[in-house]
Amino acid sequence: MRYPKLLHAIAGQDVRDLARDFGTPLYVYDAAVIAERAARLRRFDVVRYAQKANSNLAVLDLLRREGVLVDAVSAGEIQRAFAAGYPAAGDPPPVVYTADVFDREALDLVVKHGLAVNCGSPEMIDQYGARVPGGEITLRVNPGFGHGHSRKTNTGGEHSKHGIWHEDLEECVARAQRHGLRIAGVHVHIGSGADMEHLAGVARACCAFARRVGPSVTAISAGGGLPTPYRNEDVEVDVDAYFRIWDAERRRLAAEFGHPVRLEIEPGRYLVAESGWLVAEIRAVKREGSNRFYLLDAGFNALARPILYGAYHPMAIAPADGSTAPRPLHDVVVGGPLCESGDIFTQDDGGVVRSEPLPEAGVGDLLVIGCAGAYGFVMASNYNGKPRPAEVLVRGGKPHLVRARETLDDLMRGETIPDSR
Ligand code: LLP
Repeated sequence: MRYPKLLHAIAGQDVRDLARDFGTPLYVYDAAVIAERAARLRRFDVVRYAQKANSNLAVLDLLRREGVLVDAVSAGEIQRAFAAGYPAAGDPPPVVYTADVFDREALDLVVKHGLAVNCGSPEMIDQYGARVPGGEITLRVNPGFGHGHSRKTNTGGEHSKHGIWHEDLEECVARAQRHGLRIAGVHVHIGSGADMEHLAGVARACCAFARRVGPSVTAISAGGGLPTPYRNEDVEVDVDAYFRIWDAERRRLAAEFGHPVRLEIEPGRYLVAESGWLVAEIRAVKREGSNRFYLLDAGFNALARPILYGAYHPMAIAPADGSTAPRPLHDVVVGGPLCESGDIFTQDDGGVVRSEPLPEAGVGDLLVIGCAGAYGFVMASNYNGKPRPAEVLVRGGKPHLVRARETLDDLMRGETIPDSR
């Protein structure tokens, strides 16, 4: 069973020790899982980590050591890449800025460090071309179709704001030419959690766009979106089959162009989701009508995916007394501490509350939410005056605190009350 209902250890560490030593709510990541996921993707020429999924410096450092390059979507993510030891320059580029807009700070940083840019809008081409005439860019294209586990994570099709609309490709090539920009690559990302059939369609579409741009293209990117098995019954994606589909398309393209074409992949979730756990303490067990609630010290301030997307996350109980004896299962609704009725981890898309079979538990027992390494901490907030959780990376058999828990002072930093005299 991938996700048991009772759990005593994470990456070989007793859950109770982790909670005692670092407090709750606590994110725990298993370095071995991240390294293993990176290894599975080695057949691609470049694995470029979409750090939006989890940009903790220790995670970035780990992936850098595994030979993984990185993507950045903001000035903040560029600085994180540098802080984790990524150099600005290299071939292939160690850091690529991918977005649909340049805010001024990001554009300044890109120009200052000579970073590679992947343009998702015609305006980005002009803004970059004005600053770096004669430079080189890649284009992110919206192929007109998409896929995603939620409407909010679907990044292709006409309801998506992402990428250059496929019909505007020629116009954008001309726009780049006006600035003397060479288009060195084409990138397509249609969403997260797509199935193999959709993903294969993306490969064909991406290479068709590359043909329309022409032989200046020396790299194509498959984007991210490799699915993660969040449920016991979900099947793992066949990475080798996926590689073969892209590799075949890439080889055809390279033969036509008469030069090699680099094949990149840009996963976020696939590399980190399964490495991460959110450890929380049960602070109340109560009944409302026919529903039994476990209320935790972590809510959507710590993990927002269920309330945003109706996302499913596996859950387990780590008993406070360490007992391994089986416990009766109850259907429970799991919620957090926030003053908002939607602060429920067990909900489907549209906010419909459901229950989850979980072992009998009481105050002081720990509840562990699995598959929380991607889009967990990075989407945490301070809503309701809650400090964001601490983060621990287990590496080499030891837990390392890689981000201290926020303090109440952190929450008020930078705020002032104007003098009312
Ligand atoms: N590349 C680009 C251009 C992207 O926009 C994204 C995700 C990725 C790569 C990585 O996708 P992944 O491999 O992680 O599926 N917060 C949402 C996911 C938003 C994804 C946005 N873009 C969630 O929690 O599911």
